[in-house]
Amino acid sequence: MSEVPTADAQDVRTQACPGGPLLVRGAATWVDSDGIEHPVTRPVVAVCRCERSQRLPWCDGTHKFVTRTAPSVA
Ligand code: FES
Repeated sequence: MSEVPTADAQDVRTQACPGGPLLVRGAATWVDSDGIEHPVTRPVVAVCRCERSQRLPWCDGTHKFVTRTAPSVA
């Protein structure tokens, strides 16, 4: 996933929730991997990282039901 917030980078903070979304604070716009700009109208938004949300690019909680597999060890 290669989405990048487009607001002044100094004002944008991100926090990855383990097994869940990326919390983005202070962004004015979110650009998804297809280049589509999504206006951000709230101080904090949750961006989906599992790509299973019905409201992409935003998290709708579906990640809680996604089965994960442990990374393989080489
Ligand atoms: S991270 Fe929550 S639905 Fe994808």
